[in-house]
Amino acid sequence: MATAPPHRLRRVLTVSSNKGGVGKTTVAAHLALYIRALLEDLPVLVVGLDDQQTLDRFFALGELRPEQGNLKHAIAERSFDRVLRLGQYGIHFVPSPPDTALIKARATDPALLGRVLDHTDFEGLVIFDTKSDLEALTRSAIHASDRVIVPVADRASLLEAERVLALAGGRGRLLLTLVDRRSRGAGEVVSTAEQLEREIERRGLPRYRTTLSRSPRVEALLSGGPRPLSILHHGAGTAVHRELRLLAEEVIDELGLDAAAPARPRRAPRTRRGEPAGLVAGIAGVIRRSLGGRPGGRAAAISPRNGRSS
Ligand SMILES: Nc1ncnc2c1ncn2[C@@H]1O[C@H](COP(=O)(O)OP(=O)(O)OP(=O)(O)O)[C@@H](O)[C@H]1O
Ligand SMILES: [Mg+2]
Repeated sequence: MATAPPHRLRRVLTVSSNKGGVGKTTVAAHLALYIRALLEDLPVLVVGLDDQQTLDRFFALGELRPEQGNLKHAIAERSFDRVLRLGQYGIHFVPSPPDTALIKARATDPALLGRVLDHTDFEGLVIFDTKSDLEALTRSAIHASDRVIVPVADRASLLEAERVLALAGGRGRLLLTLVDRRSRGAGEVVSTAEQLEREIERRGLPRYRTTLSRSPRVEALLSGGPRPLSILHHGAGTAVHRELRLLAEEVIDELGLDAAAPARPRRAPRTRRGEPAGLVAGIAGVIRRSLGGRPGGRAAAISPRNGRSS
């Protein structure tokens, strides 16, 4: 059997919580976008591990044709290469399967997704968005990851989060999401967010410095139309836009993406039939400018070191 090729750069990030609706998919999709915008040479692949079509609606350019394959085929073929597509905003994605029953039946081995990655040529950042469970496929993503982001939106999700942290074995970090920063009146002394922050500190749990606010405007962007709209492109001026950028910078730092990306040979990204050539570069430039980068400069004006002043 052919051995897996050596990967110059592969980092794997999983966003996971067994609580539903805490912002996993929003964080996974937007980290892909913001990191891609900050490091335009870095290919980013997003893989959704559930049968919700949210990521497909977010990233697909045009209709998805069943014969082009989805996550189910990738797992059967032990590689993401055939089924991954270059999508909107220059992000690669793997189409969602129509259901996860068959995958679950195969995914009893915690090393499964790691093996699929080993036989995948794609180099860059891979982001898994898990289902709200701790079943085998989710565990397999956690197992394959350099870093696991665990969104926490309330006390219930904080209690559950410790189980994910235990599975991640030191690679997990909590991320406060859907934080309501608005004052609820003079009687309120400590907000829910502050209570959660104190509780996390008391328990000595690792977490990101950045927290993501709840925002009606962002909710309208994500859920108000037939397909979700990117906060990067449509939510400039919101607190969540600034927070996502800071979070992306934290992740770039901790995964060493900034240092690793320039060492890669400037190789044209793999494109598939029907995908316009140069799409990655073109879209990345637009995104970079929307974050305030200098045209022509490789994210120099928005690097993690100097980006926190805005
Ligand atoms: N910052 C935000 N402000 C307001 N609403 C948000 C924000 N982030 C996400 N939402 C909304 O919260 C809901 C849950 O978000 P999301 O789908 O990302 O969570 P999830 O953890 O992936 O859910 P599931 O467990 O169903 O997969 C969605 O309706 C989304 O539009
Ligand atoms: Mg989701």
